[in-house]
Amino acid sequence: AMKGYVPGIQPPEKEKYIKLNSNENPYPPSPRVAETLQKISYQDFRFYPDPLCHQLREKLGEFYGLAPEQIICGNGSDDILNIIVRTFLQPGEVMAFYEPTFPLYRVLGIIHGAEIIALPLPEPSPELPDPPPRAKVFFLANPNSPLGYSLSLAQVIQLAKKVQGILVVDEAYAEFAKENALSLLANFKNVIIVRTVSKSYSLAGVRLGYALGPAELIKEMFKVKDPFNVNQLTQKIVLAALNDPEYYQKNIARIVATRDWFLAEACKLGYKIIPSQANFIFPQPPRKGEGRSFYQYLLEKKILTRFYDDEMLKDGVRMTIGTQEEMEYTLQVMREIIKRY
Ligand SMILES: Cc1ncc(COP(=O)(O)O)c(C=O)c1O
Repeated sequence: AMKGYVPGIQPPEKEKYIKLNSNENPYPPSPRVAETLQKISYQDFRFYPDPLCHQLREKLGEFYGLAPEQIICGNGSDDILNIIVRTFLQPGEVMAFYEPTFPLYRVLGIIHGAEIIALPLPEPSPELPDPPPRAKVFFLANPNSPLGYSLSLAQVIQLAKKVQGILVVDEAYAEFAKENALSLLANFKNVIIVRTVSKSYSLAGVRLGYALGPAELIKEMFKVKDPFNVNQLTQKIVLAALNDPEYYQKNIARIVATRDWFLAEACKLGYKIIPSQANFIFPQPPRKGEGRSFYQYLLEKKILTRFYDDEMLKDGVRMTIGTQEEMEYTLQVMREIIKRY
């Protein structure tokens, strides 16, 4: 049987853990979200939501300097990825990506009956493997998940030139990175960028992702999406959050500062960590193949991380960057744990 996508655990008593397993934002969403919720009338729920998310797409268009026709919204970027697969791939055609990467691409490809070509790329490298010429869709998670490194903009441009089909740059974590691929939208007809409010806007529970791309491609995606894929509440909440950019920029700056501090300190302790451009890192104890035991030791101290039982990932765990306080505690725990390796 197919291996399905396995989401991170959502424990019922979240407060009992330091929850570093799903790359959620440790800070609450903008207070504007609370204000908006107060004003929402339950009476409106008898109406269907706007199927085209007009207001959201206009707001996002202003934000990115794009026409609303270049933007489509989805029920999280998971939904957007699913729409991309169903729009641009016929069963039997080739989907490709570098590996390790976000596991959902493969799952969506298998469900759809696509041929999957995975090219190993265990760490960032100046020489990227060439994309398969037959690939109709090439997924690039940049920054990479679960490792956190980012390919340079120059490398993404090279890739966009080489991919003969559509290059999907999944920028779920781009707000935490130095560079992003937005500038490619001006010159490339085959690039789609996927974004989400789950991480940077602290709105993972609300479910809103979107794609930015050439109007001709976005138009095709509209034909495939579920008619009412973004509910009324989500549209209102995200609109309120987008109107408070200073708030989320402040949180991002805090997370990036904590990340860079933590990464340097953990390396001093003897952990191996690839530099990260995301809101998570992938620390590895000095002894190879110890990701699982590391995960268990952290769990005993109520720190929840993510272990992937995969040949390329079994040396470490993926760890979200929490608050400064949470990461100070985590560092202390890691100082104890490393004695076992
Ligand atoms: C690379 C990547 N893409 C997409 C997603 C999905 O995000 P969402 O569906 O919450 O927008 C995630 C979530 O962890 C991710 O890591």
